[in-house]
Amino acid sequence: MSASAPSPARSETAPPPPSTPPLPLAELIDERQGEQVELLERTMNPRFAKVLRTIGFDRTIVRAEGAYFWDARGRRYIDMLAGYGMFNIGRNHPVMKQAIADYLALDDPVKLQLGACLLPGLLAEKLLEQVPHLDKVFFTNSGTETVEAALKFSRAATRRERVIHCHRAFHGLTYGSLSLNGCNSFREGFMSLLPGAVAVPFGDLEALERALTEEKTAAFVLEPIQGKGVYVASDAYLLGAQELCRRHGAQFVLDEVQTGMGRTGRMFAYQHVPGLEPDMVLVSKSLSGGYVPVGAVLYRDAVYHKVFSSLDRSVVHSSTFGGGGLAMTCGLATFHILEHERLVERAAEQGRKLLEALSALVQRYELLQEVRGRGLMVGIEFGKPRSLGLRAQWHMIHAADPSLFAQAFIMPLMDEHGILTQVAGHQVDIIKLIPPLTITDDDIAWFTGAFEQVLDAAHRFPGPVWSVARKLLAFRRGKQHT
Ligand SMILES: Cc1ncc(COP(=O)(O)O)c(C=O)c1O
Repeated sequence: MSASAPSPARSETAPPPPSTPPLPLAELIDERQGEQVELLERTMNPRFAKVLRTIGFDRTIVRAEGAYFWDARGRRYIDMLAGYGMFNIGRNHPVMKQAIADYLALDDPVKLQLGACLLPGLLAEKLLEQVPHLDKVFFTNSGTETVEAALKFSRAATRRERVIHCHRAFHGLTYGSLSLNGCNSFREGFMSLLPGAVAVPFGDLEALERALTEEKTAAFVLEPIQGKGVYVASDAYLLGAQELCRRHGAQFVLDEVQTGMGRTGRMFAYQHVPGLEPDMVLVSKSLSGGYVPVGAVLYRDAVYHKVFSSLDRSVVHSSTFGGGGLAMTCGLATFHILEHERLVERAAEQGRKLLEALSALVQRYELLQEVRGRGLMVGIEFGKPRSLGLRAQWHMIHAADPSLFAQAFIMPLMDEHGILTQVAGHQVDIIKLIPPLTITDDDIAWFTGAFEQVLDAAHRFPGPVWSVARKLLAFRRGKQHT
């Protein structure tokens, strides 16, 4: 065939020349840049816009690369939040961008629906290589949807209703996952949740055994490190929970939506513990490098056969977008990048350095109670100071609102030091760090130096952290219902 002749398949399907002009995306963004918060306020969530303005997080961020982003004035920030843990490989990774461009150039059939596509199979194969004791993959489009699938699978496999979860747990905010939420402020106001959901204290094997004995149970769903507060499950707890679940015929489900994909210094956090083989592993967030919604349940053949139990039921659980070509490409590219850049090992190494540097401060500062975590998932907990002057301020602020102190801490980190962090839950004195796994020694020094300066200032009263806390308090009192 001559070079200029189109292939038969192409000539049969060649589209007419496009008459629609390209979307002028760059011009559009240029023209409207800076309207972010005003648009959020007017069209989506005015109260969240108000929160952002109050805490000074209403900046116009125009560009991001790796662990950094820049505002409209060219100031560089470091991201210790990674989009709630979805940018383990960092933002706008050139290999990921190229993979996306290559995928689009392929004119892939995407989702035939009644037909099989190649890319989901390839990513499923890759995921199962990481978790060799499991047999099947079910693709979803988010963390919560992954949890919902695990709930359905557990119930179908066991023909039991009860699902046990932990106090402080966070598994998402749709009805099934919300029923497993360990924080009342998320649950309140949404009427009845899933019947059979029961909470036990995190780390308490006796309570778990009582709950399993009380009534036949479909599943125990657990985060190996709780995201709200960064509480690390001990090896003994994880192994004990697995053993109890086996004995009582319940699925042992580990939610690795945040801890997975290298975050803790292993591909999955459960892999730190020899002998641990959960019945289901739930993955999302960084599986697609943060680009495209994605999620996956990794589970056993025995459960597969109970759920998809006949030809008629071969698609009894599914979702239109699940296993989409772009998401699958991003999943494959994420593994490629993690492996080539040794980012999982790097998370272990950099995490150790970060934890060591922060732990050294605990002895020196009375407001610092504990630093804990695994790999690059780190929690910094403040505690009641001993000295009288500080203690009075602490009590005053906490009596009014237990969230304010940590909130007042993350504001100067952002304002004065260009560091994005978050408070690790409602009404806690804990800051959580989940940066991209690419952070360097300089980044760690940037964070720890800044953190120490703010901590030092917090030990002075009157001082900037306390005045920010008081300002926040005044704002909350004045504007709670507006
Ligand atoms: C452990 C865990 N599970 C589930 C979810 C829910 O994920 P999504 O927000 O994608 O629904 C989250 C989100 O933060 C999470 O941390």
